[in-house]
Amino acid sequence: MLVMGIESSAHTFGVGIVDNGKVVANEKAMYKIGSWGMIPNKVAEHHIKTAGEVISNAIDSAGINPNELEGIGYTMGPGLGPCLQVAQLSAKTIAKRLKLKIAPVNHCVAHAEITRHVAKLKDPIMIYVSGGNSQILSIENLPFRHYGVAGETFDIGIGNMLDAFARNAKLNPAWGSTVEKCSVGGKYIELPYTVKGMDFSFTGLLTKASKLIKSEKVTDLCFSLQETAFSAICEASERAMLLKGRVEIAVCGGVAQNKRLQSMLKMVAKEHGAKFGCAPNEFNADNGAMIAYVAEKMLQNGMSKRLEECEIKQRYRVDTVRIPWD
Ligand code: FE2
Repeated sequence: MLVMGIESSAHTFGVGIVDNGKVVANEKAMYKIGSWGMIPNKVAEHHIKTAGEVISNAIDSAGINPNELEGIGYTMGPGLGPCLQVAQLSAKTIAKRLKLKIAPVNHCVAHAEITRHVAKLKDPIMIYVSGGNSQILSIENLPFRHYGVAGETFDIGIGNMLDAFARNAKLNPAWGSTVEKCSVGGKYIELPYTVKGMDFSFTGLLTKASKLIKSEKVTDLCFSLQETAFSAICEASERAMLLKGRVEIAVCGGVAQNKRLQSMLKMVAKEHGAKFGCAPNEFNADNGAMIAYVAEKMLQNGMSKRLEECEIKQRYRVDTVRIPWD
């Protein structure tokens, strides 16, 4: 099938096109996050402004005629309400005009599934780390085939924690990727470490590290923040892998781009003779291709919706979504 996918749950408006699982276009426009963070209405305005251009760019880069499209998907949630509405409206309009089947896609399932596909994994422990989400997932078959949540953050997502520290430390740009750059050559300072079984927490860590900004070197704090938070993720993931008896471990989502996190998880995998997997960065950052990929699977499995059923859901749990395909 030739299927378009539209993503707009947070700062990125992305449009991807897949042809029988092969990504043939993946275009995007990103809202620039300033020191104020993300104001949902402002981000939605950006998406509305850029939507037309990104959609045409995707059609051009796939080299297709829009009439050849057979289906469309959009991010139903989770995400910011005003932002989600832009992909929803765009997809419904295109579906109506071109008479396409339409599938509302869960953003977290899309991150996990594109990584499972690209990294050629069958049944991994999937660590999903992004701004708003931090979860350890594994495919479960009861009461239906879905991504079960083995563990997750008790409070904020790891990406939001790193971004908040970057803002508090006045790093520019105030993103987690700047924390990664600033961590090079840092020394370890002990910070609060919270793991409870396969769940973890980051707010105490953020508060303590932010309080130390006046007295400690920012490089040391960036290094220690990453080491502490990533160790918590690794400990919980290792436990999940052993308890669930899985032999593959993978990382997906925006924070999966962090090289230190990748190398620590690789070490965990190596110690247990497990396979480690991670997708290229274009699929870890928010993107339309992952939405198109899952939309195609959904449409092939009879999971299309009528236009009037196409909603958004700001809090859309990954473990409520059926994934009947292998
Ligand atoms: Fe995401």
